[in-house]
Amino acid sequence: MVTEKSPSGVSRRNFLQAVGVGSSAGVMFATMGAMGLAPTAAAQPPSTSWVAPLRSDFTLTGRAARKVVVVGAGPAGLASAYELQKAGYQVTVLEARHRPGGRTLTIRGGDSETDVDGVTQTARFDDGVYMNAGAARIAQWMVTMDYIRELGVPYEVFTNMNADAYIYNERSGATPGNPIRNRTAKADLFGYVSELLTLATNQGALDQELTAEDKENLRSFLRSWGSLQPDGRYRGGNNRGFEVYPSAWNEHGTPLPGPGTVSEVLASRVGQYFPFELNWEQAMLMFQPKGGMDTIYRSMVEAIGKQNVKFRSPVTGVENTASGVRVTYTASNGHARQIEADFAIVAAPPFVMRRWSSNWGPDVDAALGEFTAGSPAGKIGLQYASRFWEDDHRIFGGITETDMDLSKIWYPSYGYGERKGLVIGYYNTGANARAYADMTPKQRELRAVEQGVKIHGEKYRTELESSFSIAWHKVPYIEGAWAFPNTQSAGFKLLQQGAGNVYFAGDWMSEISAWQHGAFWSARYAVQALHTRVMTT
Ligand code: FAD
Ligand code: ALA
Repeated sequence: MVTEKSPSGVSRRNFLQAVGVGSSAGVMFATMGAMGLAPTAAAQPPSTSWVAPLRSDFTLTGRAARKVVVVGAGPAGLASAYELQKAGYQVTVLEARHRPGGRTLTIRGGDSETDVDGVTQTARFDDGVYMNAGAARIAQWMVTMDYIRELGVPYEVFTNMNADAYIYNERSGATPGNPIRNRTAKADLFGYVSELLTLATNQGALDQELTAEDKENLRSFLRSWGSLQPDGRYRGGNNRGFEVYPSAWNEHGTPLPGPGTVSEVLASRVGQYFPFELNWEQAMLMFQPKGGMDTIYRSMVEAIGKQNVKFRSPVTGVENTASGVRVTYTASNGHARQIEADFAIVAAPPFVMRRWSSNWGPDVDAALGEFTAGSPAGKIGLQYASRFWEDDHRIFGGITETDMDLSKIWYPSYGYGERKGLVIGYYNTGANARAYADMTPKQRELRAVEQGVKIHGEKYRTELESSFSIAWHKVPYIEGAWAFPNTQSAGFKLLQQGAGNVYFAGDWMSEISAWQHGAFWSARYAVQALHTRVMTT
């Protein structure tokens, strides 16, 4: 490999690496500029790695820290403010709602929310009982874990898959409307698929694809994966679970009825749920902060300084000026206010910010317009007097999948050993979410319970103490669960450059919308672009 030499004789590559280690993007770019290597600030491609801005970037270069207004106290806005504030920027966060976290909303007893139709609900949950109405789970590889750890937020396992939870399909199969344990459904489906594949292999159907050795390896794998008999047939096995589990002294266990025929198993359509747990975003292990997702954002507000985060302060205008930006908002006392700053990072939903007065021009407006609306999604939290799903059904966390309009029932991954608990009685999207959203809170509860009784029996109705439901497209200032960018569009690339002194952040500005991870990375890139500019101009 050819390495260019710097005037001092040190290879440029090594020199830049040495400067880059333990330094920030800004110093790195300033050094590259001095060596004639850096492109102009505006033309720089978005960085694909993150080096946090540091206070020393200012002290080492004699530059003054700048003032930044951040709009939105969701994950993207707060992470932007947190990173900037750590490096010494003067930060003011303006948030329209009464609390931090945006869509990472945790509902506890006493919390109230009023939707865009003016319907108010107040949660009547007991102390220690909470509902993550929005974000709830975190994969290990997500940067969200890094923020949790850095902030010292305690965390615990979130059970995203439980072999003992149910699958309940009432619209398909030979015996529709029978809850079946996830492990049983899997054993039967994997068993028959293994049997069929073994048969096809034995009949030579795969001879074009596989060598004799390949075929033997495949057969051997399928034998154990599908729990096949020596003749290559599936007739059930212990991996289906038991009616009564084995105990001692010749109690061998009572087998479950079944399995059904291959046609019945295929017709039951249980297989549609299995890819979920292999998904790169959803695979176990997953985690949650102890006490609710919003604890992350309460900690961030503490770190940023409560005096720097203004709630009930909806922004109505963001404009570039000759020297920076002017942000107009309505203060919590109802008065219109303006803040002048060097830069703004706006981390509100794109379809919301298009209603503001702005001078970022028609191209940026059109790029924001690619996000027409947020998708609907809904959840209900049902507080129960007893944890019958654990006591009677032996389900300690995880998810029951259904083909009813409630879609999913989530069992809590906290509060084990407590008397009471909270189940997410529906988590649905699309038309199902709209249908629930159009009901009153009481009607939503009745419908969710009516359906849950089919799986869990009457206790699902009689043990219920209170509920709280959310329809995300009806939450003021948020207006939807998520929006996905067209990451190939010119508009999306335009937004990455920002508009004058305004930068955009939010999960919708990321490659992984609908996740805090995406919001955090969008914040990091906005901060990095801003800081690089400050360090190079
Ligand atoms: P938001 O959280 O939406 O924050 C934007 C903020 O801007 C809000 O606080 C809003 O009030 C504020 N704002 C809007 N207009 C104005 C204005 N005019 N002036 C001032 N402020 C304004 N993520 C996960 O990591 N794991 C999950 O399990 C998960 N599950 C989810 C389930 C649901 C049902 C939903 C809805 C989301 C889920 N997410 C999950 C996604 C996660 O919540 C989002 O990715 C994250 O909240 C996005 O952060 P953000 O800052 O981009 O936007
Ligand atoms: N990230 C969202 C969830 O996991 C979609 O439910």
